[in-house]
Amino acid sequence: MSAAMPNSHFLDLKDLPSEVLRHILDTARAWKQARAGLPKGAVDAGAPLAGHTLAMIFEKSSTRTRISFEMAMQQLGGSSVVLQGGTMQLGRGETVADTARVMSRYVDAIMVRANSHDTILELAREGSVPVINALTDRSHPCQLIADMLTLEERFGDMAGRKVAWVGDGNNVATSFIEAAVRFGFSLTLACPDGYLPSEEALKWAKAEGGTIAVTNDPVSAVAEACAVVADCWVSMGDEDVDARMRALAPYQVTSEMMQEAADGAVFMHCLPAHRGEEVTAAVIDGPQSVVWDEAENRLHAQKAILAWCLGKI
Ligand code: CP
Ligand code: NVA
Repeated sequence: MSAAMPNSHFLDLKDLPSEVLRHILDTARAWKQARAGLPKGAVDAGAPLAGHTLAMIFEKSSTRTRISFEMAMQQLGGSSVVLQGGTMQLGRGETVADTARVMSRYVDAIMVRANSHDTILELAREGSVPVINALTDRSHPCQLIADMLTLEERFGDMAGRKVAWVGDGNNVATSFIEAAVRFGFSLTLACPDGYLPSEEALKWAKAEGGTIAVTNDPVSAVAEACAVVADCWVSMGDEDVDARMRALAPYQVTSEMMQEAADGAVFMHCLPAHRGEEVTAAVIDGPQSVVWDEAENRLHAQKAILAWCLGKI
């Protein structure tokens, strides 16, 4: 076992108290505002992570996560190393534990996008630097800090508000459930049988006193919701493509469905999106969509996550 710093990992929202998540979110907002108008590669005042290096391991594809983490380290005055899991010795059988120990000697933090959540847990357990979950088969917590920033930019404090998740009860849905508990909003997930949200996450949310509902009916789910959230129907690693398309077809977010939500409701999607599947082009490219703000906010959210992991905030 390593002498990993306590509370220094960012593995899942459920592992962190609301106060820590609030602090990360407030920092993200403040730092976003503070650098408004600067060129994107300019370093933030004070270069909070000067001299620090982040290694990123990708076992799955990425556009937003990779670029936003790289730019985050650049803006914080640090540097980054990008590694494709398949080209590392990890892909040839070197153990996760040995990889964690070796990488901890070279870099200050490790970001991982892993096929299996167990990989992230083992890296965190066996390494001696902070580990950040950048999506696994279980969850996508970095996305939710960006999504919370986006929601609060529109609505302020989300406590007591309602959000609707429509579609597959997948990894992002699990992080939404955890966010609902930690930030005190109510979440209704409309998912078909066979693609329901994680029972483990729902059980945890219930024990924590969260207000989470699950239904098969998207129209009732979006009623009174200030945000309607969708994600792809086929996540990376999913193989039952045809069955998913059939089961999820009634869960497409349409303009008609958006009209059932609260006045001023927004549409959210972590991207990449598939127009004509989980959402129509009219919705994602229409006035209610906040998906580009959401994508931008990955950068600001992750800067605060990195700074927290490394003890700078
Ligand atoms: N939303 C998200 O994580 O996007 P990428 O898969 O492009 O990183
Ligand atoms: N649920 C999707 C999210 C992509 C960012 C996936 O895991 O592929």
